[in-house]
Amino acid sequence: MAGVGEDTDNVELLKEVLAEREGQALEKERQLERYAADLRETFKQERARSQELRRSYVATVRALANAVEARDAYTGKHAERVAAYGIAIARAGGLSLADDPEIEFGFLLHDVGKVAVPDAILFKPDPLDATERKVMERHPDVGWEILREIDFLGDAKLVVRHHHERWDGAGYPDGLAAEDIPLAARVFSVADTFDALTTDRPYRPAMDLAKARNIIDEGSGTQFDPSAVEAFRRVSDEELMRIAQEIR
Ligand SMILES: [Fe+2]
Repeated sequence: MAGVGEDTDNVELLKEVLAEREGQALEKERQLERYAADLRETFKQERARSQELRRSYVATVRALANAVEARDAYTGKHAERVAAYGIAIARAGGLSLADDPEIEFGFLLHDVGKVAVPDAILFKPDPLDATERKVMERHPDVGWEILREIDFLGDAKLVVRHHHERWDGAGYPDGLAAEDIPLAARVFSVADTFDALTTDRPYRPAMDLAKARNIIDEGSGTQFDPSAVEAFRRVSDEELMRIAQEIR
């Protein structure tokens, strides 16, 4: 009968081992839950930090864009409006760049190089002579130089450099043509012209929307990328007017 006692002992022992293992498993599970909670908290903090960083970037970029525009009472919030038009066009064209924050930065900063253009040229009411035009046309290159070292601007710098290129290659500073011009710069070009036409300038009053649309249509394939013009056609009058009224 000694065997039965032994068996009982073995069962007890097994039970103990099992209970111990269960305890360990439970402890492990709790530990994993703690890790998961820590990780979730870390992600949450990271996300908050990156949102904060992004807000700082936007504020810095806006400040820089406003500093440039503060010189020119006429253009008002031109950069902010153009950025909104540009994003509306990109969206209407189904372009992914509509959601790229770098591109908005590029739209906002496009004329940052104008800080190097003297007042006498920037505000001259008469047409510029050849020398003055040369100084004026350096602004995309100057802007590019100013921003060159700022990594977070990424492709925004391409908009700054190429926003005066033309589809037919007759623009500046590099005389790029067609698809050699970065897409964001091609979209920007339509937005920029539309805003220039629909705001008062020293040399002419603002144009109405239909007339501005006609001029942009006429520039398709020469000044502008036809697909950017096509996307612009899809932006409704209501949306254009809403942007014009909200950002002034
Ligand atoms: Fe410009």
